[in-house]
Amino acid sequence: MTTTTRVDYSALIQPTRVHGSLYTDPAIFADELERIWYGGWVFVGHASEVREPNDYVRKNIGPQDIIMTRDRAGEIHLLVNRCAHRGNLVCDAPSGNSSAFRCAYHGWTYRNTGELLGYPYNKGYGGKGNLDLKLGVVPRVESYHGFVFGSFNPEVVPLKEHLGAAAGELDRLARLSPEGTVSLDAGWLRHQTHANWKLLAENETDGYHPQFVHGSIFSVTGSTIGPLYSDNSTAVTRALGNGHSENDLRPEFRKFAEPMRWFGTTPDRVPEYVAAMRAKHGDAAEEILIEGAPHVMVFPNLFVAEIQVFNIQPISYNECVQFSTAVQLDGAPELNKRMLSQSIGSVGPAGMLLADDTEMYERNQRGVEQRLPEWLDIRRGVGRESTDPDGFRIGGATDETAMRAFWQHYKNLMEQ
Ligand code: FES
Ligand SMILES: [Fe+2]
Repeated sequence: MTTTTRVDYSALIQPTRVHGSLYTDPAIFADELERIWYGGWVFVGHASEVREPNDYVRKNIGPQDIIMTRDRAGEIHLLVNRCAHRGNLVCDAPSGNSSAFRCAYHGWTYRNTGELLGYPYNKGYGGKGNLDLKLGVVPRVESYHGFVFGSFNPEVVPLKEHLGAAAGELDRLARLSPEGTVSLDAGWLRHQTHANWKLLAENETDGYHPQFVHGSIFSVTGSTIGPLYSDNSTAVTRALGNGHSENDLRPEFRKFAEPMRWFGTTPDRVPEYVAAMRAKHGDAAEEILIEGAPHVMVFPNLFVAEIQVFNIQPISYNECVQFSTAVQLDGAPELNKRMLSQSIGSVGPAGMLLADDTEMYERNQRGVEQRLPEWLDIRRGVGRESTDPDGFRIGGATDETAMRAFWQHYKNLMEQ
């Protein structure tokens, strides 16, 4: 007989501090899998990765191995990569185009919607069509601007409800495309990281670290990013509800009122793009081109960092994978080329931003595994927070408003 002791999450998660064991306890990680990764919505991939009928690509929901397929009618499915016979993987290739998957072990075949098509030497089963078996199918699949989310929980709320105000940030990304749509088909880089996934999720909208962790790269490139995350910045950190958060940089960009400054360039460097946006949006184009792209963390694993998208996959309490890709705006080839090369420069294998962050994640994991002090402090800015007209908590550019909101949501989920 096994006994399970329930973790007291309200003791471990307090308004301005969180306990170190949240990053180091395998039992807490097991709880997170059930409640967050299998119980809620998780970002899986993008519809543009399976553009054609019968395209498929291997993905993940937490440690689960998922095949994202598009059937011949155009519908997207998330299949669990496990044969219904004796549990072998049915798909080995990272991506491809096929209407069916054939298990390598005993040759059972499945349609890309999950149905069992056939099994060799069927007399052993009394003939054809006798087996009431199929691949595991993720019961809920919904998408927003092509961002595909899945949930193992059939009762989960509609995706739009989970996204809440974060949906508006994905709208903001899509409207930067002259066609109003984005693609994430440039390929994903995969960074294995020896750190708890929450250290990454918390860092995505931590405006306190950039000047220190990325100071060297800002200084050698003459980047304008640094001042956005200083105590003089007019940018704000906003808790968007449901654990989502953003660094809203628009106040800074509006101050300068320079189109394309958000992208570190000027309209004359990307004339075709700017012309296409002006043709589509008329006078409204200026504001769009000044305000730029969102910097938003969608709980628990989707991070849109202006021109890159990240997908965080937890593997264990102290290991995760960061997948990253360049945003591609449909109808903007001129910008897309630059987005790709900037992404390689910042988050590629020899990139200058993600390497710095990853060093911090791994040191952070080593640090929180030490015994004392037991707590992590997240009180920064608590005394200067306010509520914006939409009812969201906002703090200064370098404040820990987003972390406090992340933990509040996390606590709610873990206590259910
Ligand atoms: S395990 Fe797949 S066919 Fe036997
Ligand atoms: Fe960073």
